[in-house]
Amino acid sequence: MADKKIKTIGVLTSGGDAPGMNAAIRAVVRAGISSGLSVKGIRRGYAGLLEEDIFDMDTMSVSDIVQKGGTILYTSRCKRMTTPEGQVQAAEICRKHGIEGIVVIGGDGSFRGAQKLSANGINTIGVPGTIDLDISCTEYTIGFDTACNTAMEAIDKVRDTSASHERCSIIEVMGRTAGHIALWCGISNGSEYVLIPERADEDDVENIIEKITAKRRIGKKHHIIVNAEGIGDSYEMAKQIEEATGIETRATVIGHIQRGGNPTCRDRVYASAMGAKAVDLLIEGETNRVVAYRDGRFCDFNIDDALKMTKDIDQHLFSLTKRLSR
Ligand code: ADP
Ligand code: F6P
Repeated sequence: MADKKIKTIGVLTSGGDAPGMNAAIRAVVRAGISSGLSVKGIRRGYAGLLEEDIFDMDTMSVSDIVQKGGTILYTSRCKRMTTPEGQVQAAEICRKHGIEGIVVIGGDGSFRGAQKLSANGINTIGVPGTIDLDISCTEYTIGFDTACNTAMEAIDKVRDTSASHERCSIIEVMGRTAGHIALWCGISNGSEYVLIPERADEDDVENIIEKITAKRRIGKKHHIIVNAEGIGDSYEMAKQIEEATGIETRATVIGHIQRGGNPTCRDRVYASAMGAKAVDLLIEGETNRVVAYRDGRFCDFNIDDALKMTKDIDQHLFSLTKRLSR
């Protein structure tokens, strides 16, 4: 813990954008200013930091953004930041601009960058921002709720046409290597099958074909399968199912729509709480921490520890998808 009082902080967004990041930026700026700090915005994540794309933010810079998707600071993936030279340079640039602490809003990769900045003398606090919910130390990440709601509404629409044509529909949702979005959509959309990387061994295409055939026999007219992107090619799967069952099958990849749109109430509120907490941690002189939400409260972890943690999908919810689709 540093013993001197921090005066100037920076904020950046990094990695994939997520709805609610703007609410978090707003909270960092407003909480910082209301605590007497100067706040600098850094555009395009670590790439912008290394290019010194840095500007002063005031309370009006974050006016009218709490409800907006995307990130007003832009975001990027930056290779140079993964090199020791890039990390030293990033810390030097922070010192040059008087930035003593940085709030990094992003995922695990972004936290590794924050960890390196901290090791190079700049206080850093991570705020979990990713639609994938794949950050182990926290039960909530900014954007997950909005992405699930967006995917859920899209799947409802696919269901309408799937039912009219008595088809089988495979809908692919995002999540990188994690199946959280698929799992939540599987339940909220009442899908018959949810395929997720964490349980890839439990349901293969052969298995699904058998189940679809059995369901047709008992009068089921259409079938909804939610497929996590990390599990394989949805179009190929659709072909296999159609060939084996004779049932017309279509694949829909929802894609980047899930990353956009106005954040839900939950995403706005939690992102605001996390942004403000990150500022409080910097004011307390903390560094190399990540804000999290666990067991009903906001808390924080050492980034080194957080990055070593692992988490599984919610087994209770996964079992529920099977139980409710019989
Ligand atoms: P996310 O933050 O969503 O996990 P990425 O994995 O793409 O997204 O990481 C975002 C950025 O964080 C990278 O483009 C890079 O600039 C930085 N980063 C990732 N891994 C490291 C690392 N090991 N050391 C330093 N910076 C890293
Ligand atoms: O991490 C968020 C995410 O949307 C993942 O769900 C997906 O795998 C990936 O980013 C897509 O990345 P890009 O925007 O680079 O295509």
